[in-house]
Amino acid sequence: MTRSTKPGDDRGIQVAGSRGASMMKQFPLSDVYQLLEPGPVVLLTTQQNGRPNVMTMSWHMMVDFAPALVACVVSSADFSFAALLSVQECVIGIPAVELASIVVKVGNSSGRAIDKFKSLGLTPLPAELVSAPLVGECFANLECKVVDTSMVDKYDIFILEVVRAWIDPAQKQPRTIHHHGYGNFVVDGETIVLDSKMA
Ligand SMILES: Cc1cc2nc3c(=O)[nH]c(=O)nc-3n(C[C@H](O)[C@H](O)[C@H](O)COP(=O)(O)O)c2cc1C
Repeated sequence: MTRSTKPGDDRGIQVAGSRGASMMKQFPLSDVYQLLEPGPVVLLTTQQNGRPNVMTMSWHMMVDFAPALVACVVSSADFSFAALLSVQECVIGIPAVELASIVVKVGNSSGRAIDKFKSLGLTPLPAELVSAPLVGECFANLECKVVDTSMVDKYDIFILEVVRAWIDPAQKQPRTIHHHGYGNFVVDGETIVLDSKMA
């Protein structure tokens, strides 16, 4: 196997939709797992009553290739929880290392008290299929719909289906950040290409 699977390599890209996301190009849904499998710290946006919000999330995992399903833990203590449960839509934005300090600030504040987009200088962009905004500064944005809430009561786990995926072609070879707890993050590094049978 020799192909690179990094976003930004201009592979399988389609023209962006009409509603916003003008900076973005569509990314194949069947390849969405490549963006999430290494477990990058992400931003999760919601919108309720016309009010956008964003939280930081590191507890997520791919569940299936197609449809692209993602399990994520959104604590019932988070302001985002009620919006996600009620509206059943969100966007997962994947930030590169350059956004790391903002990502931590997002995760250390609540939308109950402030408008995090405004106060932290993030740009909400209209999505195509969901009400929650894309994050303009993220190198990838996944529009998601909640498809299973059966584990919410017990674990705060939502199962999301990715219904649209976008990448920002201007961000070449973005390096993700990976949470190791208590302010420690590992930054994505060297790519090695091996002869693997796994997609
Ligand atoms: C690096 C990092 C990772 C986090 N991961 C999660 C997570 O996976 N699930 C979660 O519920 N909260 C997580 N948090 C905490 C939320 O981001 C935090 O409670 C956030 O401020 C909630 O915002 P809200 O009240 O506006 O919804 C994380 C915070 C940080 C800094």
